[in-house]
Amino acid sequence: MHATGLLSVFVALLGVASASPASPEPLERRVTHTGTATYYLQEGAAGACGIVHQDTDLVVALQTEQYANGVQCGRTITITDNTTGKTATGIVADLCPGCNGSGSIDLSESLFEVFAPTRQGVFPVSWHFNAQ
Ligand SMILES: *[C@@H]1O[C@H](CO)[C@@H](O)[C@H](O)[C@H]1NC(C)=O
Ligand SMILES: *[C@@H]1O[C@H](CO)[C@@H](O)[C@H](O)[C@H]1NC(C)=O
Repeated sequence: MHATGLLSVFVALLGVASASPASPEPLERRVTHTGTATYYLQEGAAGACGIVHQDTDLVVALQTEQYANGVQCGRTITITDNTTGKTATGIVADLCPGCNGSGSIDLSESLFEVFAPTRQGVFPVSWHFNAQ
């Protein structure tokens, strides 16, 4: 009886502790986005995040919804090719308003080539934000 009572109090305290920090990031981290992956060339232009990257950099542009006005700039995402199961990590560097709907992403040439030759052009993708 007494032990059960203590346990209930302990569980109640845990509930309070885990509910308090209401940062959106831990929630967003668990979301798996799906869409199509394409690639783009850097051409010496700064991405929407404000940094010039090379085609050899493993960077990615997010569709408007996930780019969220640049909130995710510099964040890493884990990308999975749905057809092969291969995964790789990319750094958010740009916005892709023309991507194929929410969840679709545009990869740098070298990041795309981790998954497939660029002549393939596209693959179905699932991805998620990594913990910061
Ligand atoms: C765009 O996404 C849809 C699924 O939402 C898919 O059927 C279609 O093939 C994609 N288009 C391109 C060009 O990848
Ligand atoms: C990719 O895989 C995920 C998880 O298995 C699935 O939910 C999603 O519909 C798939 N997307 C495509 C474009 O095949």
